[in-house]
Amino acid sequence: MRKRMVAGNWKMNKTPREAVDLVMLLKDKIDREDIDVVLCVPAINLIAVADTIMHTNIKLGAENLHYENCGAYTGETSATMLKEIGVSYVIVGHSERRSYFKESDEIVNKKVLKAFEYGITPIMCVGESLEEREDAITVEKIRIQVKKGLKGLTDKQAENVVIAYEPIWAIGTGKVATNEQAQEICHAIRECLTEMFGKDIADKTRILYGGSVNGKNADELFAMPDIDGGLVGGASLKEDFANIVNAE
Ligand code: 13P
Repeated sequence: MRKRMVAGNWKMNKTPREAVDLVMLLKDKIDREDIDVVLCVPAINLIAVADTIMHTNIKLGAENLHYENCGAYTGETSATMLKEIGVSYVIVGHSERRSYFKESDEIVNKKVLKAFEYGITPIMCVGESLEEREDAITVEKIRIQVKKGLKGLTDKQAENVVIAYEPIWAIGTGKVATNEQAQEICHAIRECLTEMFGKDIADKTRILYGGSVNGKNADELFAMPDIDGGLVGGASLKEDFANIVNAE
């Protein structure tokens, strides 16, 4: 049985002070042991959020990391730095980073491997554009992202990696994929994992859906057989995040 995960991706929102206010508001409402609740926050907020979630079941996540350990990479954050302040998860390969910061599948793969090297669980995002969906190449595109992004993973790592299926056309648009559309692609991802690592492992890997998830649509999406939770953008910046975590 896969443990449900609900992760918030704050993107470039909230100052450290605002971050503490939001976590204070949320923390009593999202105290669940049966679900992995993760807050992925901007690097500048990590320490403040780490302090605020102490003695709760909420886990700390980063939104990005660099694939080198240290060195002349102005503005970047390394896995060592994240690890030291208690980061357990890191988002890798979000479509915004792939498009605005030109992150290729090869870079995504290096980041996935680096996160694991430091005991941080990567949440690797994949997803198609509207054009790719209209051209009926969604599954093909996603399979390439999964295969290249997870290249070289050990069986144990493949079991623990989290994959987030986020159709680009559903991100921040209020246009959520239907339950069936989301399930179809999450199932295709699991089939791809089966080909790569075998069924036993594929059955253990968590696959999330992301794209306009809110407190009203979460329960139906999460009820689909291959959807193990959600990666939430806009709705994670407000009280509605608690409704998503507590969805049936
Ligand atoms: P929204 O929930 O705002 O659509 O964002 C989804 C997302 O990009 C999460 O990583």
